[in-house]
Amino acid sequence: MQIPWEERYAFMTKTHIETYELVEECLKINYFGMKYLTEALLPLLESSDSGRVVNISSNAGRLRFLNNEGLVKELDDINNLTLEKLDDLVKSYLKSFKEGALEENGWKLPGGFGTYKASKIFVNAYTRIAAKMYPNLYINCVQPGHTQTEGSSCTGSQTVEEAAKSPVMLALDDSGQTGFFYDHTEITAYY
Ligand SMILES: NC(=O)c1ccc[n+]([C@@H]2O[C@H](COP(=O)([O-])OP(=O)(O)OC[C@H]3O[C@@H](n4cnc5c(N)ncnc54)[C@H](OP(=O)(O)O)[C@@H]3O)[C@@H](O)[C@H]2O)c1
Repeated sequence: MQIPWEERYAFMTKTHIETYELVEECLKINYFGMKYLTEALLPLLESSDSGRVVNISSNAGRLRFLNNEGLVKELDDINNLTLEKLDDLVKSYLKSFKEGALEENGWKLPGGFGTYKASKIFVNAYTRIAAKMYPNLYINCVQPGHTQTEGSSCTGSQTVEEAAKSPVMLALDDSGQTGFFYDHTEITAYY
């Protein structure tokens, strides 16, 4: 018998902890890891006539979960958002966590897993900036859906094979779309 999603999520939220070290590690892996890997691969990607980047995001990366108008505006203002500004926002999140000022500084994300959610908001913003910086590449991000993996304590509603469908589709896609956020296989709003 499958345990209802609400119960599974409540269990995960209850057992989830955030310390400064874990928060820093999460941002290093999810945001800086993705960024530095992309940058390291740029020469290869740019030498190809079909260079593609598919960043694995999450539904949690939607801007609407960020309950702060100023931050949403800044992260959504893609014509003015730069990599430097984005790095500063990531550092501001980290500093706010360290000082116990997430709420005060507008970074408190509701419903648990705050840093994971923030990291995916940053992944999405990076995707949009990078797509503008490298117009000859196809750079997109995707929310593959809740999946039965270690990362979800096997609470997901779909198998790994099912979840792989959208990233594989984007890795092979030749429609020329770039800078988009996909919910499974469909383009969705960043908000
Ligand atoms: N599962 C879901 O429901 C779900 C939903 C939406 C989005 N996602 C996203 O899908 C992606 C994969 O998640 P998952 O659920 O498959 O998680 P997972 O089961 O925890 O797997 C994470 C993978 O990342 C690797 N990894 C962790 N830290 C690393 C590091 N510092 N350097 C290199 N590799 C590292 C792990 O390697 P080792 O095995 O060697 O530790 C593991 O292979 C994540 O970006 C997640 O946010 C997952």
